[in-house]
Amino acid sequence: MRRPAIRPASRPARVVVLVSGTGSLLAALLDAATDPAYGARVVAVGADRHGIAALDRARQADVPTYVRKVRDFPERAAWDRALTEATASYEPDLVVSAGFMKIVGQVFLDRFADRYINSHPALLPSFPGAHPVRDALAYGVQVSGCTLHVVDAGVDTGPVIAQRAVEVGADDDEASLHERIKAVERAMLVTHVGRMARAGWSVEGRRVRIP
Ligand code: GRF
Repeated sequence: MRRPAIRPASRPARVVVLVSGTGSLLAALLDAATDPAYGARVVAVGADRHGIAALDRARQADVPTYVRKVRDFPERAAWDRALTEATASYEPDLVVSAGFMKIVGQVFLDRFADRYINSHPALLPSFPGAHPVRDALAYGVQVSGCTLHVVDAGVDTGPVIAQRAVEVGADDDEASLHERIKAVERAMLVTHVGRMARAGWSVEGRRVRIP
């Protein structure tokens, strides 16, 4: 199905980044966005928990933060609405899940249709879910990598924006392989968020086109 293209704004694209952990992907975006030619700026960082390094990194860069914890809401749908409202209040052109360990609900997906993207440390459709690096090692693959994709209602099933391969070493454990994947993932994320911000994009069936 062909949906309307998302055109670049006449100002830098407004990007909200969602995080749950260390925030090295976030840091890469913040660093890239210090260059006005990059075409995007991080206007807010949202999280599902307090006390994570990613929130400290956002504060260091003077970027506003917000936290919506699932446990603070009577039901998941109420959390989803609260996350949607908080995110929408920053009027993002693009929302990036960068190590955000929550599946959002339909209200969020509808509000940010085609504008919510996720970076995943495996070559989808292999190894979706919460432990892709562990699962890839357990399977014994010799090549893994990372995937940037538009988020849809499934778990890591949305249209692919970009992928990069990373070789698995014989001595790799989960931590060493994940670190090497993350180095490639950061570059992939920075490149494609910048391209999308500067050129716009469209989602046509399973294909994401950046002109
Ligand atoms: C990335 O590999 C991301 O794809 C995964 O968690 C990692 C986040 O790393 N879901 P960081 O918190 O940005 O350092």
